[in-house]
Amino acid sequence: MMELTINGTVHQVDVDEDMPLLWALRDELRLTGTKFGCGAGLCGACTIHINGNPARACLTPVSVAKGATITTIEGLGGEAGEHPLQQAWIKHNVPQCGYCQSGQLMSAAALLANNPNPTDQEIDSAMSGNLCRCGTYPRIKAAIKDTVKTTEASAALAYPAKGSKTKGSSRHA
Ligand code: FES
Ligand code: FES
Repeated sequence: MMELTINGTVHQVDVDEDMPLLWALRDELRLTGTKFGCGAGLCGACTIHINGNPARACLTPVSVAKGATITTIEGLGGEAGEHPLQQAWIKHNVPQCGYCQSGQLMSAAALLANNPNPTDQEIDSAMSGNLCRCGTYPRIKAAIKDTVKTTEASAALAYPAKGSKTKGSSRHA
C-alpha cells in the first residue's frame, strides 16, 4: 500500500511500485483528465506536476511520487476551472478535439508559476514537448500571452491549495 498526495488529497493505492503513475491516476483513482498519448514521453498528453514541476506521468514510476505533491488537471483550478489559464483557454477557444489540452495546460501552468512573465522564446521552449494533432498552437500561445498580460499578481497563477483528506483505493477495487 502506498500513499499518494494528489490535488491535496491523500490516497492509499495498492499497486506495484514500478507501475507508471499515469495508470495509478487513471485506472486506480479514476482521475481520467490526464491522458495517455504515446506512453513514451514524446507527446506531453500525460503532463502533471510533481512538486510544482511538469512531469510525464507515463514515464514516472509510482514509487517516485511517494511523498511528493502531485497536481493533475483536476486540481489545477478546482472544480470550477478558475485558474487564469483555464479562463484564457475558454476566451481564446483553444481546444479542438481537446485530447492534448490538459497536458498543454499543465505545462503552461508550470511555466507561469516559475516564470510569470516569459518571453516568446521561453513560451515556445516550455511548450515544445506538448504535441497537438489538431494544430492549436497559435491559440495556446495567444492564451498564455493573454494570461501574462491580464494577471497582475503572480500568486494568482498558482493553483489553489486544498485541505488534506484521505481516500482509499486498491488495485482491484
Ligand atoms: S503519454 Fe506521456 S508523453 Fe505521451
Ligand atoms: S486539440 Fe486535438 S490534439 Fe490538441
